[in-house]
Amino acid sequence: MSKFKRTLVTAALPYANGPKHIGHLAGAYIPADIYTRYLRNCGEEVMYVCGSDEHGTAIPIQAQKENTTAQAIIDRYHALLKSNFEKLGVAFDIYHRTSDQIHHETAQEFFLQLYHKGLFTEETSEQYFDEEQQTFLADRYIKGTCPNCASENAYGDQCEKCGKALSPNELINPISTLSSKAPVLKTTKHWYLPLQNYEPWLKEWLLEGHKADWKSNTYGQSKSWIDGGLSPRAMTRDLDWGVKVPVNGADGKVLYVWFDAPIGYISATKAFFKELADGKADYSYPNNSVIKAGKADDWQKWWKEEDTRLIHFIGKDNIVFHCIIFPAMLHAAGDYILPDNVPANEFLNLEGDKMSTSRQWSVEMEDYFQSFDGKEDVMRYVLTAIAPETKDADFSWKDFQTRNNSELVAILGNFINRVAVLTHKFYEGKVPAAGALTDNEQQLINDTERCTIAIDECLRNFKFREALFELMNIARAGNKYLADNEPWKTVKTDADRTATVMHHALQLAAQLAWWMEPFMPFTSEKLYQLLQFKKTEFKHSAFTQLDKGHLLGEAVHLFSNIEDGIIDEQIQKLNATKIAMAEKVQAAEASAWTAEAQKESVTFDEFSKMDIRVGTIVAAEKVKKADKLLKLEVDLGFETRTIVSGIALHFEPETLIGKQVCVLVNLEPRMIKGIESKGMILMADHSDGSLKLVSPSDYAAPGAGIR
Ligand code: 2FM
Ligand code: ZN
Repeated sequence: MSKFKRTLVTAALPYANGPKHIGHLAGAYIPADIYTRYLRNCGEEVMYVCGSDEHGTAIPIQAQKENTTAQAIIDRYHALLKSNFEKLGVAFDIYHRTSDQIHHETAQEFFLQLYHKGLFTEETSEQYFDEEQQTFLADRYIKGTCPNCASENAYGDQCEKCGKALSPNELINPISTLSSKAPVLKTTKHWYLPLQNYEPWLKEWLLEGHKADWKSNTYGQSKSWIDGGLSPRAMTRDLDWGVKVPVNGADGKVLYVWFDAPIGYISATKAFFKELADGKADYSYPNNSVIKAGKADDWQKWWKEEDTRLIHFIGKDNIVFHCIIFPAMLHAAGDYILPDNVPANEFLNLEGDKMSTSRQWSVEMEDYFQSFDGKEDVMRYVLTAIAPETKDADFSWKDFQTRNNSELVAILGNFINRVAVLTHKFYEGKVPAAGALTDNEQQLINDTERCTIAIDECLRNFKFREALFELMNIARAGNKYLADNEPWKTVKTDADRTATVMHHALQLAAQLAWWMEPFMPFTSEKLYQLLQFKKTEFKHSAFTQLDKGHLLGEAVHLFSNIEDGIIDEQIQKLNATKIAMAEKVQAAEASAWTAEAQKESVTFDEFSKMDIRVGTIVAAEKVKKADKLLKLEVDLGFETRTIVSGIALHFEPETLIGKQVCVLVNLEPRMIKGIESKGMILMADHSDGSLKLVSPSDYAAPGAGIR
């Protein structure tokens, strides 16, 4: 018997700084939605809270990019995210926002609770300050040269070229992005949570207590953080956007976004019950009958009573915050429950590449809805079927199409369609009575029961991929049952048998409507309509869902095929992005290029001494034990020569054969690695550091002079 009476589910609050893509959906929002929908359907007391994360430097930076205010940014993207989630059927009980007053108050109270307990340490440090703008600079507002790869555009927290995590004082020649001036170091005071003090407790609670029940990625990452030793972490920042630090001497300081954001889960719960009590149920999904009768204070029950089970759904980049920092905060405050599980997903790539909104290598929700209106469930299905539960996964448009056409249409849709069409054809749409059962019915009943037990088990253990597979196995069993029993044939010879088979197929269809709802709520609704059946009429593990004589609705198709054209369009869009990005990189490299200053003058006579000819490379091979050298045979018209050239790092030998090049032919011969090299191939430096051959623009006969 579980000690829990109710379950509070959270999904990472997305930053309201831009649209969100399918990687975010697969990471947290869809699995959490499936989970809560399932528990709700089982009649359990459950809440799903989320909202926009509207603080942190990401917001003002986006405002700067879009030349507008931070407030305008959060208003725009909060509205977009809220409506995107709704359109996708993500059934939050509340989708809140951290700019709300309730949240500011809650986060400040939480801070004060720790402050008054004396749990923060105050530390002064030197941080970069922009004198022109009179402001301290968050890491992202400082740019400079990367100490690792020398890129001149590294940020104070990371170099995006080489990926190295940095701190601002590692940057060479730091520059403020606000004023483009060099910042100065200035002393500032911050409040730190001494995480090292929580190490013994974390070891016991997390490393001992959740060894067996947390996913290995979540547990493993947390363990390596703890084993690596924890250090004090600043919980305040010098910034003018965020929740003000509620103590004296903290002017111009706000709470660190990772301090305030997870408290957003608490404020969302508070806001939900407040709205409920005020009779202002303007939250997105007032669909949870179990918690309808709420009082404003009820949020406490969900956060402070030990019989509440708290589950955080997140992506793997949020593990440390949800498994270490936030639990340490809750533990420090003292009267809160702790997460019982943190199912973190790995990342979803797109067509083999890391998804990224800024590189436009992503499928954004809004774009998907525009191209695939009415197919929200297809995306929910595919993202669950390929969910990155244990390792990174890849989304490809071809796979998306195949899963729709060969699974949803051909297996699930086909079963339902056959059942509905045959019922209308044979029985004027009415459920026939079953006659005597055979082993085939028993087999169907057993198969279904096995699948539903597996779905329940998988869902409760956060194995959504497998649960979905078992759901499809119910449809597979239905198709097999029809194929084995062929009611379309027996209808001519055995009315009783046909009725029995159709009766059972219909009962199975009704069960599918219930079991598919968490995964594909819109299609489930369509199926309920088709069957004229209701969720509330569902009976567990029963082939008695629809009474004899029950009249079905119209036999509509649950899914439709996705044609090549629309998939090709998506692929072309991505290809165009790829080309545009490559061009951008080239242009950036070219603009960063500074040509060398001119060398000393030479006379025409001096130049005339250089005998430069066109040659054709006829053979090329690597020089043994010399990484950089290639041995080339070059046809110069008057003879074929051996030339040793230091270009092996830039060219594969076989790609050079047949290429025309310019050769300085009267350079004194030299012995290089025991080979006599007679001449030099001319090369152009490229802005990215590579070398390019210098070739005549059209074919020129080998030996042609260059002047
Ligand atoms: O990574 C992110 O998108 C963060 N905005 C997640 C915050 S989760 C929570 F703590 F609110
Ligand atoms: Zn770098």
